[in-house]
This record gives sequence, structure tokens and C-alpha cells, in this order.
Amino acid sequence: MLKIKRQKIFDIEKNSKFADRVIFLSLPSGFVFLMLVAFKLISPILAIISYITIIIFNIALLFPITFEMQLLKKYISNLAQGRDFDTSEMNLSEKEAQEIADAINTMHRFWSEKNEELEAQTISDTAVLDSLPDPIMMIDRYGRIIGANSSAHNLIEKNIIDKNIDTIFDSNNFINAVSKVLSKESEAENLIFYVRKPQHKKLYAHIKQLPWITKGRAVAVISVYDLTKALKIEKMQSDFVANASHELRTPLSVISGCIETLQTTAKNDDRARETFLKLMSEQTEYMSSLIENLLSLSKIELSLDQSPEEKVYVPKIINDVTEGLSLKAKEREMNLVVEIDGRIPNINGDEHQIKQLVQNLTDNAIKYGLSPSDVTIRITAVDGIPPSKTFNVAKGEAIAISINNMGPKIEPENVARITERFYRLQEHKNMSIKGTGLGLSIAKQIILRHRGNLTVTSTSYTGTTFTVYLPLKQ
Ligand SMILES: Nc1ncnc2c1ncn2[C@@H]1O[C@H](COP(=O)(O)OP(=O)(O)OP(=O)(O)O)[C@@H](O)[C@H]1O
Ligand SMILES: [Mg+2]
Repeated sequence: MLKIKRQKIFDIEKNSKFADRVIFLSLPSGFVFLMLVAFKLISPILAIISYITIIIFNIALLFPITFEMQLLKKYISNLAQGRDFDTSEMNLSEKEAQEIADAINTMHRFWSEKNEELEAQTISDTAVLDSLPDPIMMIDRYGRIIGANSSAHNLIEKNIIDKNIDTIFDSNNFINAVSKVLSKESEAENLIFYVRKPQHKKLYAHIKQLPWITKGRAVAVISVYDLTKALKIEKMQSDFVANASHELRTPLSVISGCIETLQTTAKNDDRARETFLKLMSEQTEYMSSLIENLLSLSKIELSLDQSPEEKVYVPKIINDVTEGLSLKAKEREMNLVVEIDGRIPNINGDEHQIKQLVQNLTDNAIKYGLSPSDVTIRITAVDGIPPSKTFNVAKGEAIAISINNMGPKIEPENVARITERFYRLQEHKNMSIKGTGLGLSIAKQIILRHRGNLTVTSTSYTGTTFTVYLPLKQ
């Protein structure tokens, strides 16, 4: 009848009350046998043998029930603690015990499936929230953050869960708006506010009470939009207008002066007319390159947040640029020498911008280099990019493009400033070499966008070398 494994037969817990039950069941018959012996109705030996038989019978009856109850108890407590239980050990012979085990199994399976469904739902909800570009946080009625998407972790800090919302942004307006929603004074609040912590930012927040207040711990949801980028674009536009109007003023006043002279004093002077017309044409050319450079600078600044993804083969770009500038180099009696060291891999970049970068540096080398002399453009594959103190450079393999020209040494204080907008060396201004002072600022922004770096070395013997490092991968 009992299919329980042998070694388990005596595996009954001490506190199982098994002995108590055997004694309790055997007591009445013991009492009856005692009476029968007292009234001499049966012999004491027969009474003892019969009583022992009854006890053995009770043990045989109670043992499987107690043992299987214990197995069930062990099984349920294992399930409750989420542990595995080898059901092959559960060979139940009692019908009721088997039915209880089946019912528990069905219930366990039902809740496991429900749990899996819930887990899958939570994972997909989290993935949706994490894919949103704007930070979203859920808070409980004490203002504690109990959930946040990855944009919120990125904007604020990694561990914001369980922190109080008033410690996250140092803005009283924001804290007041959250309190209003938490105290149910208002259903939703919208506001624009500035924060200094964790970073200087202008933010827009939408704070809203959740309708299912009683069901979860979350009582309100806060979505934040970063307005800093919009503000940056606004500032760039106003800078552009300010720069353009300031820089255009000089050539315009030269042109209007020329016109005035041509209309008055130089009216009938053919030689003066020729000189003034030449000056006007030069100034017009300068204005158009100024506008072109300013526009290109704004465009590059707007693209700074997007990492470039084209496959670019830089030696081809260098060939195109040197071909385009060969006439200019010839005019200055200069040779353009290209050296390609070994196999140069493709890089991830913006082809048009890299061409502009090489073009600006080579143009400078021709313009400011010693005439006659060589301009050497060398391209090599390197293991890494030298670090920068001011911006982040990409890690890993890179290519280095160095452009060298002979000429006087650029003093370190000037080297430090030549990538500033409109900064030009006084000696070049004195020599009336034309330029807007924007070529290197454009080059720097392009390098920044590619997470590369630029180094400048200048000595009287080796001349000036600009080296651009561009990573293979962004
Ligand atoms: N290779 C170089 N050798 C010596 N000085 C240089 C060299 N490259 C740049 N400079 C100095 O740095 C200044 C800034 O260069 P940048 O290319 O930004 O402007 P630009 O050449 O004057 O104008 P644009 O590029 O619009 O023609 C130059 O005016 C020049 O004084
Ligand atoms: Mg230049």
C-alpha cells in the first residue's frame, strides 16, 4: 500500500504529534482491556497481546497520513519560498493528499503564468519608457522617486531611485509645483525653470497626478524636457546675426566710402576709378567668403550632436583637395607633397566636413607658408588620439593627417588663440594676406563633432605642423 521510499519511512519530524495520536487512539481500547481483566472476563496475557496488536494497527494506520502531510508541508513551504522541489520524491498513496498536491500544483502553475505575463508586461513597459528621449519619473505621496526611465538617469544621475524629488533639482518653483500636485491642490502643473545642479540647464516640466492613486505607490508622474538645446540654437542664431553684422560693417563702410569718392573727388579720375573698383571687388569677395564661412560654422555647430556615419577614405579627399589647390600653390611657387604611410583604413565621418577641414588647413599652409617651399601632407594610421583637457576624444584606433609648411615660428600665445573666431596673427594682417579668421574655427568644430583632436607645433627650423586626429569609429 505504501509506495514511500524506504529510507524515508522513519523520517518523521519529532514535533509531528505522531506518537500523541497513536497514544490517544489506543487509550480507549486499553481502558476496555483493563476493565475486562479487572472483571476476569479475559486473561491478562491475552489482553496485553490484543492491546499491542491494536497499537501496531494504529501505527500502521497513522503513519502514511502523518508522513504524507509532512511531504505536502515541505512541498508548499518550498513553493512559497520560490525554491525547487523534486516532485518525484512526492509519491503520495493517500487519495486526499494526492488531490491536495494536484490542487496546489494547478494553483502554482496559474500564478507562475500570471507572474510571467506580468514580468513580460513590465519589461515591455520599461523598454517603451526607456526608448523615450525625455526623462520621466514616478513619485510616491512623499515625493520619493520610485521609478525613472533611462533618460532621467542620464540627465540627473545613475541612482535617483528612492531619492526625494526636492533633492534632484535646485529650483524652488519646481519643488512648489510638485508639492501642489502631491497635496492634490492641483491636478497638473507645467513650468519652465532653470537649474544649476546637476548641470546648468533650462527645463520644462509637466507634473501630473495619476488617476489610479489607490492601486500603486506612484501618485504622480513628472516628465521633463530639456530646453537647453533649443536655447543653444537660439543663442547661435543671435551670435550669427551679431557676428555677421559686426564683421560686415568694415567692408561695407569701405565700399560706401569708395562709392562716395567715385561720385565726388575721383569722378573724372580714370586711375583712381580703377583702384577703387578693385578695392570694392576685393571687399565684396571678402564679404561673400565671410558669409559663407559664418553659415558653414552655424551649420557645423548644429550638427555637433549627431555623430557622423559615412564611410570616408581620407587619402582620396586629400588628393581632391590638393588637386583643387594646385593652382594656388603654383602661384606661390609651392609644391604640394602627399605622403601616405601604409594602408589607411576607412573612417566613420562626414565626407563633406572632412574635405572642408583638409581644405582649410592646406589653404592656410599655402597662404602663410614660406615661398618657395614645400607643403607636406602626411597621413598615417595611429593607435590612439592624444587626450584633450577641454573636450572628449574618442578611444581606439585613429588616423592622423599632418599638414606642414615652412615659415616663421608661431609664438605659443598665438598658437593658443588661432582657433578662436576671427583671430588672425597681426603680422599676417600687416602683410594684407586676405582671410576671415574663421577657417580654423570651422576646422576645430568639425574635429569636435568627429571626437578627434588637433595639435599644433611650430618651430623656426621645422615650420608649422597642424595634426588632425580622427577616430576610425565614433
Ligand atoms: N599654417 C599657418 N602658418 C602660420 N600662421 C597660420 C597658419 N594657419 C593659420 N595661421 C594663422 O591663424 C589665423 C587664423 O587662421 P584661419 O584659417 O582661422 O583664418 P584665415 O586663414 O585668416 O581666414 P580664412 O580661413 O577665412 O581664409 C590666420 O589668420 C593666421 O594668422
Ligand atoms: Mg584659413
